[in-house]
Amino acid sequence: MTELTGKVAVVTGGASGIGRGIAARFAAEGAEVMIADVRDDLGEALAAELNSAGGKTVYRHVDVADQAQVAELVDAAVATFGALHVMVNNAGISSPLRKGLFFEDFEEFDRVMRVNLLGVMAGTRDAARHMAEHGGGSVINLGSIGGIQAGGGVSTYRASKAAIIHFTKCAAIELAHYEVRVNCLAPGNIPTRILASSATDEDRERLERFETRIRQQMRDDRPLKREGTADDVAEAALYLATDRSRYVTGTVLPIDGGTVAGKVIVRKPRESGDTQR
Ligand SMILES: NC(=O)c1ccc[n+]([C@@H]2O[C@H](COP(=O)([O-])OP(=O)(O)OC[C@H]3O[C@@H](n4cnc5c(N)ncnc54)[C@H](O)[C@@H]3O)[C@@H](O)[C@H]2O)c1
Repeated sequence: MTELTGKVAVVTGGASGIGRGIAARFAAEGAEVMIADVRDDLGEALAAELNSAGGKTVYRHVDVADQAQVAELVDAAVATFGALHVMVNNAGISSPLRKGLFFEDFEEFDRVMRVNLLGVMAGTRDAARHMAEHGGGSVINLGSIGGIQAGGGVSTYRASKAAIIHFTKCAAIELAHYEVRVNCLAPGNIPTRILASSATDEDRERLERFETRIRQQMRDDRPLKREGTADDVAEAALYLATDRSRYVTGTVLPIDGGTVAGKVIVRKPRESGDTQR
């Protein structure tokens, strides 16, 4: 497992969930990884765990909603490891769950957009500034199938993720000149803590009902019946991080068990012989 030996990566939101999976996989592949998050307890523990297994990782407290902190993150990665080849803009939060659009007060709009969209845009810009002067690199932004497929609820979250997809394509076009590739991963229904940021404390019970309902609906809508994992997303991130994807930029790759491919009509073969002509 040495696909990333000699490479330096930054993973924002790397302390838990999908980001944790990506940071761990990159470290296992030999990359030096700076893990950036606001959850210092989880981030410090992860870095210690990966380093005790032979990894070369450093945790740094970064709020990606703050442009200055994002710029400092890139500088810190370069100062610590001497380079930056891969930037994973993964940090994200959900918007609160409302009963519908008429119940929206958009109170969380600024925060969600700053974390999800500005964090990605600033991270892309600042990483690309360094990469452009050092022969190129790979930027991997975390969108969502919620930014591809329209649907009810968490409308600010969906809007932020749709914007990430569009921004990724724009940045890919602009940065191609510098050999900086910019791609987007669009996960769907990976069990993590993210849905917890959809609800306030008073809302917990409603959130649990929502989570149960949405997870069942997602299972029904997903052609591949097994549940996705952070490792599944990390595998795709690894592909985009390496030279295996050297001619790939401006793409959006759903990691969703086929959900956005279309409606599930045939749920299973009726008889075992159905697979034969
Ligand atoms: N889980 C899914 O099914 C799913 C689906 C589509 C997209 N995504 C996207 O994947 C990414 C990771 O989400 P996850 O599911 O692993 O959720 P998660 O909540 O487990 O992880 C998100 C991480 O981001 C960190 N974070 C939050 N705000 C931050 C900030 N301002 N600055 C720095 N770090 C911050 C959190 O502390 C956490 O460690 C997000 O962008 C999310 O939108 C997840």
